[in-house]
Order: sequence, then C-alpha cells, then structure tokens
Amino acid sequence: MLDVKAIRKNFPILDRKVYGKPLVYLDNAATSQKPHSVIQSLVDYYEGYNANVHRGVHALSMEATDKYEEARHKVARFIGAPKPESVIWTRNTSEAINLVAYTWAAANIKAGDEIVVSQMEHHSNLVPWQKVARDNGATLQVIPITKEGVLDPSQTDSFITRKTKLLAINQVSNSLGTINPVKSLTKKAHAFGAKVLIDGAQSVPHMPVDVKDLDCDFLAFSGHKMLGPTGIGALYVKPDVLEKMEPFLRGGEMVLEVWNDRATWNGLPMRFEAGTPNIADAIALGAAVDYLTALGMDNVREHEKQLTQYALSQLKQIEELDLFGPMDVSQRGGILPFHNSEVHPHDLGTYLDREGIAIRTGHHCTMPLMRAMGIVATARASLYIYNTEEEVDKLVAVLKDALRYFTDGTKRANRPG
Ligand code: ALA
Repeated sequence: MLDVKAIRKNFPILDRKVYGKPLVYLDNAATSQKPHSVIQSLVDYYEGYNANVHRGVHALSMEATDKYEEARHKVARFIGAPKPESVIWTRNTSEAINLVAYTWAAANIKAGDEIVVSQMEHHSNLVPWQKVARDNGATLQVIPITKEGVLDPSQTDSFITRKTKLLAINQVSNSLGTINPVKSLTKKAHAFGAKVLIDGAQSVPHMPVDVKDLDCDFLAFSGHKMLGPTGIGALYVKPDVLEKMEPFLRGGEMVLEVWNDRATWNGLPMRFEAGTPNIADAIALGAAVDYLTALGMDNVREHEKQLTQYALSQLKQIEELDLFGPMDVSQRGGILPFHNSEVHPHDLGTYLDREGIAIRTGHHCTMPLMRAMGIVATARASLYIYNTEEEVDKLVAVLKDALRYFTDGTKRANRPG
C-alpha cells in the first residue's frame, strides 16, 4: 500500500492554504498535482541542457535528444508497448484521438461502416467521430447505459457487428467513474475485424494498463492527469497499424526527403511529430512515470479502491444526495459524482471552495451523458495517490453544511410575502 504521508511531502502545492484553509484537492480527474521531481525535471532541462532535439551535433542537443527519447521508452514500458516507436507524443488525449480520426479513420472508414461509442464518452471521444461519420458516410452507434451507469449488458453485444469498423470507448468514465470491460469488448470488436481505440485519460494514471494484454489498436492518454505537465500526452498505436498510417501534420522533422513538388516520410515515430516537439514536458512526463512506477500501479489502484469505498460509504449517508456510477468499487475508479435536486452543483462547488476543498462541477464534457441521466450537471470529487480519509471526512462534513445552508435558503427564498 502507499505511504500517503510520505507522498504528500513530495507535492509542494499540498502545503498551501485556500481562503486560509488547508487545500483539499479533489479535482484529480481534471488535472493532477505535480511532485517536486517532475517540477525539478523542467528546471533541469531549461537550466542545464535546453536545446532542440534530433537536429544538432552539439552536446546540448544530443543530451536533450537522449532524455527526450528516454522519456518515450519510459512511457512505452509503462503501458506495455512492444516498441517505443509505437508511442507518439501529442498535446493531450483529445489531440491523440483527433490524430486517429484525421489519419487512420479518414482513410479507412467507408460509407455504410459503423463507428461504435458508448453513452458515457467524453466529448473528446465523441465529437471527432461525429465528423468522421459525417465526412465518410458512416454511422455513429451509441451503446446505452443502465441506471447504475454501466454499459447495458443486454444491448452491448448487439452494437458490435460486422458493420463495425471502429470501437472507440473509454476505459474509465470521467463523469461516472465506471470501469468498462475494454478487454472483452476489444476481443468482440476484433472478431468482426474492427479496430479499437481506448480513451485511457482516466485509467492510465490510476491503474495498471497494458496494451499487449488489452490488445487494443490505439490508446490515448494525457500527461497532466498522471503527475506530468500540461501540454504533453501520448498515443499508442499497434505497430502494424501505425506502419500503414499517413502523417497527421506535415512539415519539419517528419520528412525523409523533400523536392519542390513532393516528399517522403521519416521513420516512426517522427513521421507523426512535425515541428519542434514539446521537449521539456515530454521529459517531465518521463519523471512522472518514474514516480508512479516507483509507487507501483497495483498499489495506486488499491489505495484509490479503498479510499473510494470509504468515500462512497460516507457519501451514502447523506440522504439528500444522489450518487452516480456503480457502487461496487471493483467496477469503478476514484471518481465520485453527486447531485442534489434543490441545489445547483456550482453552488455546492463554491461553498466547498470557501472551505479549501477543490472539486469540479458542471457537465464534465459529457453533455449527452448528462441528458441521458436527466440532469444538466453534477458535482464531482475525484481522488488520487495523495488523498486521505481525513480529506474525505472534510468533504462530507462541509457538504452537509452546504446542503443545510442552501436548502434552508431555498425555503426562505420561496416563502410567500
Ligand atoms: N476531462 C477532464 C475532466 O473530466 C478535464 O475533468
């Protein structure tokens, strides 16, 4: 298990106060905090060996190139990728998914094909497929969910058919916390010759994820949700699929030879990395991976599972709250959405903030899911390696106060005369 007390000492921001109260950071699904080693790796790069990569014969450039490619190796190992060149740097999960939409999907999805997603996709794993479907004459199919916030088992199978060309699905829902059975779904999709893209934005930071085991064709994730900086993410593509993909962005670095009227493409992964890349942040993501690897992803998952179990047991005691997502923690990550029919989530979020507690409120970039659940927004607490039971207790106590405050206030406001 994790030594949370020791971990907390590595995160300078956790010492700060908000409105004079100790920070309780429960917005980890939006972005995680960064340990000192990650922050220091950025300083080391800019102070010690700042140079462009893959271009220079001078010492700084070679040092930067080595560290940059070493970070790719670390990320590849972290997700069990067979080769480092099957990991392409992107800005974030959204860009990684768009890369697939603009390259593989644009070339391979034809009229009459179906792209299958679920009702609990983040807009990033829905809107790009709407465009591909529209441009290519394909149809978007949406697997419905049950009241418990899991894929409807009675319907899921019927959505994956010989017409399916792509299944694009999250491994963990950012709005519900649901862990989807992506391995078995991948097997089903492959049986019909379809490709599978997994949105790993909320899974890769929180549990062991192995692309060989999942056998997915694409895995997209962001660095900033897994202790790394913003502006860096990655796309894994199965080597035989990647070999056949055309470039996404064109320009420097991604070419081998260029004439006035044509060009040939560089090898992998450079073919997909036009222009000067985000060197410092890629290296810092490598430092984040070192940090998580040292903790052990099994331990990270176990810590979050136990804390989620505790948080659910406490939140359930607040009768006025509706909770969403599966109640069985073996089926959910550390994402805790809640709702009260009389109090807007933004009001709850603002009240909590005044007590130093950071959560996210709104539709969480899942408007179709909110519509399917018959609400417009939720309040969402999301956990990570540095969160504690004491912080959950504080959340619960302040939530009770907030509900009392606002519901009494509503009664006052509605009083006639
Ligand atoms: N996708 C991130 C979230 O769910 C930003 O909060």
